[in-house]
Amino acid sequence: MEYRKFSRFSLLFLIIVFDAVCAENGVQILNDRASLLSFMSQITDDPKNALKNWNSSDVCKWSGVTCDKNGNRVVKLALSQKSLRGKIAPSLSKLSYLLILDLSENFFEGRIPAEFGSLSRLEEISLSSNRLEGYIPTELGFLHQLTYLNLGSNKLTGDIHISLFCNVSSSLKYLDLSNNSLTGEIQLKNHCEFKELKYLLLWSNHLVGTVPQALSNSSKLEWLDLESNSLTGELPSKILSKMVNLKVLQLSYNQFSSHNGNHLGGELPSIIGTLSTELAQINLDDNHICGPIPPQISNLVNLTLLNLSSNLLNGSIPPELCQLETLERLYLSNNSLSGHIPSAFGNVPHLGLLDLSRNKLSGTIPHSFANLSQLRKLFLYDNQLSGTIPPSLGKCINLEILDLSYNRISGTIPSEVAGLSRLKLYLNLSNNHLHGHLPLELSKMDMVLAIDLSSNNLSSTIPSQLGSCIALEHLNLSRNIFEGTIPASIGNLLYLKELDVSFNQLTGEIPESLQASSTLKLLNFSYNSFSGNLTNKGAFSSLTIESFFGNKMLCGSIEGMRKCHGKQTRHLLVAILLSLVITPIFCIAGYPLVHGSNFRGQSLVFNLKGIEDEEEATGKERKYPKISHRQLIEATGGFSPSTLIGSGRFGHVYKGVLQDNTMIAVKVLNSKADGDISRSFKRECQILKRTRHRNLIRIITICNRLDFKAIVLPLMPNGSLENHLYPSHGLKSRLDLVRLVSICSDVAEGMAYLHHYSPMKVVHCDLKPSNILLDDDMTALVTDFGISRLVKVADENVSINDSATYSFGSTDGLLCGSVGYIAPEYGMGKRASPQGDVYSFGVLLLEIVAGRRPTDILIKEGSSLHEWVKSHYPNRLESIVEGAIERCATCATIQRDNSKIWRDVILELIELGLICTQYNPVTRPTMLDVANEIGHLKQYLYSPSNLLIE
Ligand SMILES: *[C@@H]1O[C@H](CO)[C@@H](O)[C@H](O)[C@H]1NC(C)=O
Ligand SMILES: *[C@@H]1O[C@H](CO)[C@@H](O)[C@H](O)[C@H]1NC(C)=O
Ligand SMILES: *[C@@H]1O[C@H](CO)[C@@H](O)[C@H](O)[C@H]1NC(C)=O
Ligand SMILES: *[C@@H]1O[C@H](CO)[C@@H](O)[C@H](O)[C@H]1NC(C)=O
Ligand SMILES: *[C@@H]1O[C@H](CO)[C@@H](O)[C@H](O)[C@H]1NC(C)=O
Repeated sequence: MEYRKFSRFSLLFLIIVFDAVCAENGVQILNDRASLLSFMSQITDDPKNALKNWNSSDVCKWSGVTCDKNGNRVVKLALSQKSLRGKIAPSLSKLSYLLILDLSENFFEGRIPAEFGSLSRLEEISLSSNRLEGYIPTELGFLHQLTYLNLGSNKLTGDIHISLFCNVSSSLKYLDLSNNSLTGEIQLKNHCEFKELKYLLLWSNHLVGTVPQALSNSSKLEWLDLESNSLTGELPSKILSKMVNLKVLQLSYNQFSSHNGNHLGGELPSIIGTLSTELAQINLDDNHICGPIPPQISNLVNLTLLNLSSNLLNGSIPPELCQLETLERLYLSNNSLSGHIPSAFGNVPHLGLLDLSRNKLSGTIPHSFANLSQLRKLFLYDNQLSGTIPPSLGKCINLEILDLSYNRISGTIPSEVAGLSRLKLYLNLSNNHLHGHLPLELSKMDMVLAIDLSSNNLSSTIPSQLGSCIALEHLNLSRNIFEGTIPASIGNLLYLKELDVSFNQLTGEIPESLQASSTLKLLNFSYNSFSGNLTNKGAFSSLTIESFFGNKMLCGSIEGMRKCHGKQTRHLLVAILLSLVITPIFCIAGYPLVHGSNFRGQSLVFNLKGIEDEEEATGKERKYPKISHRQLIEATGGFSPSTLIGSGRFGHVYKGVLQDNTMIAVKVLNSKADGDISRSFKRECQILKRTRHRNLIRIITICNRLDFKAIVLPLMPNGSLENHLYPSHGLKSRLDLVRLVSICSDVAEGMAYLHHYSPMKVVHCDLKPSNILLDDDMTALVTDFGISRLVKVADENVSINDSATYSFGSTDGLLCGSVGYIAPEYGMGKRASPQGDVYSFGVLLLEIVAGRRPTDILIKEGSSLHEWVKSHYPNRLESIVEGAIERCATCATIQRDNSKIWRDVILELIELGLICTQYNPVTRPTMLDVANEIGHLKQYLYSPSNLLIE
């Protein structure tokens, strides 16, 4: 042992001496080269050819390798996300000038070489997301310069050696050992101080014991995540109260108990009030914390998220909690909280999610909820709430989920609440004491996916207007006292999968429309008084008698059902007659709905023809710099083929440089272009001239001579979004999630401007990744206006430089958009509408998240991107989310722990994408709504990630 240590030190000494002597003649770099080659020799698979150029003579030009200024030594090796496989060779330890080593997100296996302990200059090391196993070598304790250490998401085992904490502690700012199988205690003795530490991430291990007292010296700590371990003891109150910079605290899924630990009369840490006022997020769910929520919680003035779910909290909810003005999400579910819901909740202006479910709360739902204009999700189920549903709840116009089930709520369903038309996920009022009839306003819920009103005393008939809840997939009206027939309109609901009307007093025949539905899978008609003859066809083919129990007057061919005694021929004839009669009725019944949608949309429908008319009327134009034909010739080298960056039916696009060094793209109209094409060209000029927005491509000038017509646009150095989403091989996308969300936000802003604010309203008609360009700081600009169909000739085949592809096409006045992005209603002869653009935008969102082209999904899965994603929603999204996180994580050279935030954001994007691509154009949000929503998302993403980036 002593000997080995000695020899390593002497080697180090030799290297240093050697270094001084030989740096001049470049021997050192040859040694570094040898070390790297030895490292490469241990790599068994390099599917992306990441090390392709590791045979050239100049080491400093090898991919992933960075040298110092003089090219004498390798100072950085960054090979993240290259799918490399094999062992990590100890030879890397000879790169003695190495400052940064990043091998994260590959398939490296085996152990972490102990020899790394000799890389004494190393400042950052990331080996996260590999398959490394064994112990963390104690030798890493020699790395005194280390500021960043990330070994997260491997298969490391054993205890975290004390030297790791103690010896590197002085400089370390970021320590991530999360998601391994590390055991033992967090051995941080009192003399070991993490003075500089900002991030300590040890989540998902098997750590035991208590949170070490010495951590209280880490006063710079901002992010502490010990979630999912087996830590015990009292909540580390004293320690936490010293961390004055703490912003995020994650202690969920442990076995922390509150003071006293005996669950008797112990108070939930009044420390909560002594924690850093900077704290933005606290997750303490799934522990053994008992006692009441202390009123001192109101001191945490910067709190946006508080999660105390699944603990043993009791007492009532302190009204002081409602003084937290920044609070956005509050989870207190699954505790033993009692008493009333404080009416002061109405004073929390940004509250978006309130989950008080599964407690023992009593009293009524406060009227003050009406003030919560941003409330989106309200969960009060499984309590002992009584009284009536306050009609003022109808003022929470952004509500998406309302779940009041399993309480003792009485009275009728207020029409104001039934009219919450934004409710887009579900309404659950089941298992209460509600009575009266169903308010017709329910029909306004045209985005809601599920309605559950079961187990109440609701009466009267089921209104046929429920057929207007066109997004409905699950409808449960069971165990009430509804009478009359089931309206046929319910069977016409395009997405209805599940219908339960059991245990009511319904009569008459079961409507044919239910049987004809292609989506209905689960049906329950039992214990009513239905009559008539049924066949086991259509949606009923998979049903058994169980779905029809307790209806004495039903007969037919359903398995187990009484056979009908009648003349089959007559039956058949009647069926045919019926179907002849019913079809036209359906068409007519369906018509007002379609017509209605038309009507609602009308104020927003601007067709392109209207634009041309308006152009004639306004006649005002902005002044543009004069650029002569001659100057354009000079700029593009006489429109030389080498400057051609794209071409189509419409003409050619050249890139060029003006005398003042402005990079431009010149779109030249083919002189032989036919009428349609020149009209489309004219249209694009008109639109470009009049729109002015940071997210719409702006025009530099227009050259309009009889024999030469061209639009001059700025050249976008970063090409189109398409280039980045699907980089050609060898390149890697540089779009991380923050950037993607920012791009989506840019596009939404640009589109909202086109639809709502521009001097003439414009429907784009062809929104897709290739029509979104990125400028030098990656701001997205929408391009290609008023062009309905794409004619793309250029690109790969003609081997044209596609770094700044412009696509262009022509209009034939009928088809609008590109396959995969085109709204379904366009296929039915609907004219171009803003809702069509919203659809295309939704496809874009889903495409970005799924990482697959809509056409690819169409070919491989045989469904639209919307349907494909929807078929995974909401329970089977994991693979899509994982895929998105994986793709999005590429940009950062060193991966930070933000996957949880990313997951949230990705889920939001999916939901938004699904809402934008709804089949019915009327229920899609406007581009303004969408832009708002993404704006929030962007903020959300920025604020936590601000915490991550120094
Ligand atoms: C490096 O290897 C590639 C093939 O893998 C070969 O095309 C190239 O010529 C080699 N370069 C040198 C400098 O040997
Ligand atoms: C850690 O530091 C202590 C003294 O502070 C020293 O005795 C020990 O050898 C060091 N261990 C490592 C692995 O650096
Ligand atoms: C944890 O590590 C496993 C592999 O060991 C990985 O599949 C998983 O994605 C990681 N979890 C997170 C949240 O990063
Ligand atoms: C709340 O957070 C903001 C931003 O992080 C910070 O500037 C402010 O000082 C904090 N407020 C308090 C009272 O700590
Ligand atoms: C249905 O069956 C009953 C006998 O149960 C018969 O009287 C009646 O004509 C049948 N109706 C039809 C439409 O076939």
